[in-house]
Amino acid sequence: MKKNAVSSGHRALTLRILRSSPTEGVAPHWQDFHLEEAEGMTLFIALNEVRETLDPALQFDFVCRAGICGSCGMLINGKPGLACRSLTRDLDPLITLAPLPVFELIGDLSVNTGKWMRGTAERLETWVHSSQEADLTALEAPMEPELAEAIYELDRCIECGCCVAGCGTLRMREEFVGAIGLNKIARFRLDPRDERSDDDFYQLIGDDTGVFGCMSLLACQDVCPKGLPLQTQIAFLRRKMVASGL
Ligand code: SF4
Ligand code: F3S
Ligand code: FES
Repeated sequence: MKKNAVSSGHRALTLRILRSSPTEGVAPHWQDFHLEEAEGMTLFIALNEVRETLDPALQFDFVCRAGICGSCGMLINGKPGLACRSLTRDLDPLITLAPLPVFELIGDLSVNTGKWMRGTAERLETWVHSSQEADLTALEAPMEPELAEAIYELDRCIECGCCVAGCGTLRMREEFVGAIGLNKIARFRLDPRDERSDDDFYQLIGDDTGVFGCMSLLACQDVCPKGLPLQTQIAFLRRKMVASGL
């Protein structure tokens, strides 16, 4: 029988949640919630049960429940992950949940990843730069399937923020664009519709707020729920820049 089992055969779970509300002046503190595990329970289901039956004021974010929207990132037992893709049965019965660091805290488990993502997108200009922007047929011209596949692979990022929260460099240097920023540069650099030169890209990331700030800590790739090859992309950009002599 599993640890902490109750008579129904389901485990008794404790969600230990870091509560806070910056707007209402509530300082961070841990609060325990007890519930019974259900078949196939995810942290999304568990948190909804807490909100429906124990504390309607608990704040957390979800949209898709399917690992697509990137809203439900949080620290699960200290490690960034998606609550909607985390099964309670894979975790010990005492589960600690805390908001992702680095991002602006809204309250409890809710953080403003959008603000950070927008700032990084504007800084790195993560959109196709084309003189033919008004000509949609030019932008939709077919491309080689292998190239489209390579771009698609890097486009799978759901902007959940897990790699940002897991990166030690970002805790020390807030201007660092992180693995997600470098991945986006790698993605637009590949795109034949983007008319920026390699030099243009390297100007954006060629210092220690970019590719030379990464200390190869690797947590980004370990925690990415989409399995993006973040470290490979960073190493590739760094090699290219060194070879270009910039
Ligand atoms: Fe999330 Fe991965 Fe995108 Fe980082 S690169 S924001 S971990 S999906
Ligand atoms: Fe951070 Fe990933 Fe580099 S964790 S230091 S961006 S390898
Ligand atoms: Fe959309 Fe979890 S709710 S990724």
